Amino acid sequence: MAITEIRPDIRYVGVNDRTTTRFEGLWPLPQGVSYNSYLAVGEQVALIDTVEERFGGRLLENIRHEIGDRPVDYLVINHMEPDHSSSIALLRRHYPEMRLVGNAKTLQMVEGYYGIACPAHTVADGGQLDLGGLTLQFHLIPMVHWPETMATWCPERQTLFSGDAFGTFGALDGGITDTQVETERYWDEMRRYYAAIVGKYGAPVQKALAKLGSLPIHTICPTHGPVWQRETARVVDLYDRMSRYEAEPGVVIAYGSMYGNTERLAERIARTLAEEQVGPIRVYNLSYAEPSEVLRDIFRYDTLLVGSPTYNGALFPPVKQLLDLLSARGIPRRRFARFGSFTWAGTAARLLGEFAQQMKWECTGEAVEMKQGATDADIDRCDALARTLAAEIKAARR
Ligand SMILES: Cc1cc2nc3c(=O)[nH]c(=O)nc-3n(C[C@H](O)[C@H](O)[C@H](O)COP(=O)(O)O)c2cc1C
Ligand SMILES: [Fe+2]
Ligand SMILES: [Fe+2]
Repeated sequence: MAITEIRPDIRYVGVNDRTTTRFEGLWPLPQGVSYNSYLAVGEQVALIDTVEERFGGRLLENIRHEIGDRPVDYLVINHMEPDHSSSIALLRRHYPEMRLVGNAKTLQMVEGYYGIACPAHTVADGGQLDLGGLTLQFHLIPMVHWPETMATWCPERQTLFSGDAFGTFGALDGGITDTQVETERYWDEMRRYYAAIVGKYGAPVQKALAKLGSLPIHTICPTHGPVWQRETARVVDLYDRMSRYEAEPGVVIAYGSMYGNTERLAERIARTLAEEQVGPIRVYNLSYAEPSEVLRDIFRYDTLLVGSPTYNGALFPPVKQLLDLLSARGIPRRRFARFGSFTWAGTAARLLGEFAQQMKWECTGEAVEMKQGATDADIDRCDALARTLAAEIKAARR
């Protein structure tokens, strides 16, 4: 059996992108990304999702490699984001008889983006398509993470084509399924993908999981990253926990600093927390850290400390940026503490407190607010804050 035949009659025809430096113009791709596309080959052939436009030629080549001169009869569109839909026009030129399959919102977007208004197979939630020997059933999962998103289920092969859900950054280095690739490097990237792109939509993801949870899933075919077969339970469990914003024990310390004064507080707090043995501890200087990595860890861990100098009467810009990313994702609870610095009129500590209030997070301990250089008293207040936090963390772990 060819390695691309991930299940009988289900073929992988996706591509790798190792040249785009920032996904969606924002998120770095140190290990690349794959755009996954699949063929379901019954008496008729359906292609499920396409790839980013620049890789359309390679997608066509992959399709021909699998089915030769047979036509593609249907194109199932689970998700209209251009990383999956922008090869539709190219596909239609090569397969003029191909019918688009999507829900009403999808088909409106096909017309809106690409000016394509053609006879299509419009599906509602629970609708299906008989390919002859293989059936495709469509489950609408709106807002995971666009309004038109749906998942396609093939009952004969117990295979779920899940769109971006369960996807991850990281190209596929030869292997396709999780038994063929080294999975270890994808888990962090799955968290980072989720935190960066899906993070705001915890409730819709929970709804989708409830809807799809009863399916006897053997294989998950997402639009990015490995095809999941051995690890389906772990992948679904991780999505369940991330979409409930559930966190594990651990501390993220994120700070901004121009001249090292605020940084000194961050270092001291980290050291004292380590002394109290409440790790893991991750410390990020926000002028240099990659925001999606910081977000990833804040999604993962239950405790967050933020520190900022006062800057033109406001927060230091990289700190403000992180808070905006957090606020946009509506994380419902984290243990939170804050520290700040100033020279003539401090606002940072107060603004961090207001941020917590807006998030409906309770602040732990007294904010450490330092004027100019750190005194012994400032260092003592860092220790006090760290010990208060540590006591709370330990009480929660018991
Ligand atoms: C561009 C700029 C704007 C600042 N604005 C304020 C301010 O509005 N109020 C204040 O008290 N200090 C202000 N400061 C002083 C810093 O908050 C202070 O130097 C602080 O110690 C910097 O911390 P750091 O060493 O961690 O960078 C400003 C400093 C700079 C460079
Ligand atoms: Fe997407
Ligand atoms: Fe995507």
